[in-house]
Amino acid sequence: MSARFGETPSSKLVRSSFLEFFGERGHSVQPSAPIIPPNDPTLMFTNAGMVPFKDVFTGKDQRPYSRATSSQKCIRISGKHNDLENVGVTARHHTFFEMLGNFSFGDYFKEEAIVYAWDLLTKVWQIPQDRLVITVFGGEGTMPADDEARALWRKVTGFDDSRIIGLGTKDNFWSMGDTGPCGPCTEIHYFHGDTPDVARFTEEPLPDGRGWMEIWNLVFMQYERSVVDGAPKLEPLPKPCVDTGAGLERVSGVLQGKTTNYDTDLLRALVDRASDLAKKPYLGTQGDDDVSMRVIADHARTTAFLIAENVFPDRAGREYVLRRVMRRAIRHGHRLGITEPFLHHVADEVVTLMGDTYPELVRARESILSVAHGEEVRFRETIERGLKLLDEEIVTLRSEGKDTIRGDVAFKLYGTYGFPLDLTEVIAEERAVKVDKEGYEAALAEDRLRNDKFDNKSKAVEEVWREVQGLTSKPVHFTGYEREEGEATVVAIVKGGALVQRAETGDEVSIVVDVTPFYAESGGQTGDLGRITGEAGFVANVQDTQKHMGSVFAHDATIESGELTVGARVKLEVDHARRTATRRNHSATHLLHWALRTVLGPTATQKGSLVGPDRLRFDFAHNRAVTDEELQRVEDLVNEKVLGNAPVVTEVLPVDQARAKGAVAMFGEKYGDVVRVLTMTADSVEFCGGTHARALGEIGLFKVLSEGGVSAGVRRIEAATGLNALRFVRDLEGRLDAAARALKTSPSDVATKVERLVESSRALEKEVADLKKKVALGGAGGSAGGAGGGGGIDEMISHARDIGGAKVLAVRVDGLDVPTQRDLADKLRDKLGDSVVLVASVQGPKVQLVLTVAKSLTERFKAGDLIRPIAQIVGGSGGGRPDMAQAGGTAIGKVDEAVSALYTQVG
Ligand code: ALA
Repeated sequence: MSARFGETPSSKLVRSSFLEFFGERGHSVQPSAPIIPPNDPTLMFTNAGMVPFKDVFTGKDQRPYSRATSSQKCIRISGKHNDLENVGVTARHHTFFEMLGNFSFGDYFKEEAIVYAWDLLTKVWQIPQDRLVITVFGGEGTMPADDEARALWRKVTGFDDSRIIGLGTKDNFWSMGDTGPCGPCTEIHYFHGDTPDVARFTEEPLPDGRGWMEIWNLVFMQYERSVVDGAPKLEPLPKPCVDTGAGLERVSGVLQGKTTNYDTDLLRALVDRASDLAKKPYLGTQGDDDVSMRVIADHARTTAFLIAENVFPDRAGREYVLRRVMRRAIRHGHRLGITEPFLHHVADEVVTLMGDTYPELVRARESILSVAHGEEVRFRETIERGLKLLDEEIVTLRSEGKDTIRGDVAFKLYGTYGFPLDLTEVIAEERAVKVDKEGYEAALAEDRLRNDKFDNKSKAVEEVWREVQGLTSKPVHFTGYEREEGEATVVAIVKGGALVQRAETGDEVSIVVDVTPFYAESGGQTGDLGRITGEAGFVANVQDTQKHMGSVFAHDATIESGELTVGARVKLEVDHARRTATRRNHSATHLLHWALRTVLGPTATQKGSLVGPDRLRFDFAHNRAVTDEELQRVEDLVNEKVLGNAPVVTEVLPVDQARAKGAVAMFGEKYGDVVRVLTMTADSVEFCGGTHARALGEIGLFKVLSEGGVSAGVRRIEAATGLNALRFVRDLEGRLDAAARALKTSPSDVATKVERLVESSRALEKEVADLKKKVALGGAGGSAGGAGGGGGIDEMISHARDIGGAKVLAVRVDGLDVPTQRDLADKLRDKLGDSVVLVASVQGPKVQLVLTVAKSLTERFKAGDLIRPIAQIVGGSGGGRPDMAQAGGTAIGKVDEAVSALYTQVG
């Protein structure tokens, strides 16, 4: 079944009929690749259907097919293709969208590509031809116009040149980014509205979508763009290729007769959800509320799809882009008057709407909801704090008879609370005050100046390292992969942030040499420690090794004896034990990463790591605590690999080859043209510049020390290896032995013995409580009048005082529960006759007071009135009936004082 114009086909049908059309024409139907390009630290997000195939176009990667088709998840918020500012304002721009595409890898070229597109659009989908216009590359600079494409279009469509428009590179030369495959393109545009008017082709469509809109771009990939010495360079591809892209949202709009993408079945339910949550109707206009609802609908998709790929809002990189998008959506919600966290509800709607096409959404649903909710709660707190400050300012303003928020206040809101000026303005408008924008700009400029000064300071230090870098023509030669000692010449000495020629005993310096076996901190692995020695008894203790300007290795050291001059020959020795322990931990980190993915699934990917000699720390994406069973399985897997003792394979490969091998790279890390690839097992292949074990057996015992959460969706495992793991186990053993000794049993019986002890102590506690009760009510015990006492009820009674014809008695008996306390009070009162009795009892951290008054005296004394001031003494309160009152408090040090107070109260 195919989608057809005017029959309002669902977007699912549009997607499947596209893939089916090309599948029937020999194209391999490929699933969407992830939005986070695997193994490509240079590209933030997949931004077109061709991204997963970019190495196939250039010939670096081969596939078993030469034609492919896909519907690809794309995000355009960064780099060359960034549509953020248009979202919600136009009818057709999105941060997240799906791109339908067909690709030829050196197979067919212009003619078939054009014929296929035309046939699908006009014969299968039956879009009226008079609503279509074509653009081709019209030539620019030294690049000639694409007359071939024009001639083909004429032949295929029968259009004359008025409907085949030539445009320049801005419109009709497509490239993925600053580098990568590119070429001239030809676009197909569709007219939304009543009467297609070719003469108005160049006009922007109206905000409601009426007008001419691009629906399909066919790129004739002919070149690879690279940057050589800062200048762009175009080189022909081995074989000409075809890359096309049609936005699923736009095509669905055309076939469903909707002028705006937001009215299609891909987005309208999300807009409606936003409208429900805001309790405002969606009118489809350019009004603020409608724009906000569209922004929320769009951003909720980006939020859901990115979280499903384990990107969580944070301060840098992709994480920061996600945070901005989420906060933008939340602000629009705020603007709509939504007072409770809501974004997760809209994201949930995305899961419902698209979950069967993209099951990763369903799998990550829990994570999507909790991360979105958590981010919104935090951001709303920020907004609330900012609002409070703003409101205080407005109150002050009004009291002073002014009506303008000062610029420095607006700036503080921005700088301290992340409260953007436009939001301050919106709120100010609601409160009928103005904002001093000029003052804000001035405060901003001043802050920049301050930061620049700070920059200059750090620039000064940077300058020193730049100077050091300039001292040698070659970067330092690092020999530490093979050796742990060596000889070198001192190139520079930095002391107190400045270059010096010599240093002496006691000085703290950074020593730079031409060749070093010392590893400088990077990629999560800490820097090496060790010794540098030289002639005439020179000894320096290296406490850290750091990398500056990417290539200068600084050995941060204290000179223990002798002196050092630039140009001297020195001997370097890495602390062997420390380095060996670090190597074990680093290799174990790779195995741990592999084991986590094996046990928890492929989404448990690395989020960070720290490798030192004592332990390793590994952060990874996972939405809940790892269970004990899972942790054990992870430990087992790692230890089994260790016992297998396979060699750790290190290869030095060109970056493309490394990627083709499937090596995992960390986003944001800078890799050179040649990289080291570490293979631990078939499924553990990673880019890594660290130092490693030669064979897995060197790791020794691998033991997890702890597992816990770091932030939303990110967990952390700490673990030890080798002798450190042994030490950990021995420490546990020692503690168990100590416990066994204290319990006078063997370590294997500790648990049973402790259980028995707990049981018997419970039984004893109960017995004690029962005894106390018995003592209190029947026989001995208790202290009266705040003084110590012995004996039982009779003994207590003997302490009663006669005050104005009433018998008054206050006693303290600790450890009673309230009912027993009451029983005791009743008994004492009955025995005493016309009496007032107070029983105080300390139970754990609290004191309870029970006060009873004989019926005959309730005219004179009210239990409730009597108890209140007494309760105050123990820091509590209470009350009750005239004949019985109760109170509690926590000041147990004041119980005796409270007890005595009864006598003064009555007297
Ligand atoms: N890669 C081309 C585009 O994104 C098809 O427009």
